Amino acid sequence: MIKFEKVTKKFGEITALEEVSFAVAPGDFVFLTGPSGAGKSTIIKLILHEYLPTSGTIQVDGINVEKMKSKEIMDLRRKVGVVFQDFKLLTDRTLLENVILPLEVFGNNSKTIGDKVKEVLELVGLSDRGSLFPAQLAGGELQRVCIARAMIGNPKILLADEPTGNLDMGTAWQIIKTLKKINKLGTTVLMATHNVEIVKSLKERVIALDKGKYEPS
Ligand SMILES: Nc1ncnc2c1ncn2[C@@H]1O[C@H](COP(=O)(O)OP(=O)(O)OP(=O)(O)O)[C@@H](O)[C@H]1O
Ligand SMILES: [Mg+2]
Repeated sequence: MIKFEKVTKKFGEITALEEVSFAVAPGDFVFLTGPSGAGKSTIIKLILHEYLPTSGTIQVDGINVEKMKSKEIMDLRRKVGVVFQDFKLLTDRTLLENVILPLEVFGNNSKTIGDKVKEVLELVGLSDRGSLFPAQLAGGELQRVCIARAMIGNPKILLADEPTGNLDMGTAWQIIKTLKKINKLGTTVLMATHNVEIVKSLKERVIALDKGKYEPS
């Protein structure tokens, strides 16, 4: 589903990633770990075509990211849902409005939107909260809204960059449970995290980066 082959990413003098190769199969749940600056977010941004690699190749669902034209980039963004540590919710919109935003961008009829919103809010356990505003919710709930927003387009892949970074352990576990459920339903999940406790207890596959390098163990 995701394949990096000898991917190097440089920002001027800084080498964020050096010849990184790995593959994530459809249906996998994989952790991306490593200290601050190891290159985790860079990998996520490369998958999303926010940056292009300096060298090497990246395939997402069989298509080379670095060769994508604008139509294929749109398809890619539809195929890949993403969740960030800092939520990025619009504070002047209700949760429901935030969740449907990606669908409106992609142009869908209102019946499809209504059904889908119900489904994803249920998936994250927030069915009864749609009419509230972000300021009315706690951090863990906000993160679940972000997961709902990421899932509304039925993505094949869900990328999560430190989704539990600002949350206490109990709340973090709720997020992990939600991500596991999404994975069980068929979406490939790649989660970048510092949280050693979570990574250890889940026993999922780990891609451990160190200063931009990855040595499979
Ligand atoms: N847009 C950019 N411009 C210049 N340097 C960058 C840019 N993005 C990342 N870097 C550098 O690339 C390296 C990897 O950064 P990255 O954000 O991928 O690390 P990370 O593993 O996500 O760290 P953290 O755990 O703190 O989020 C760092 O040295 C960072 O300073
Ligand atoms: Mg990061």
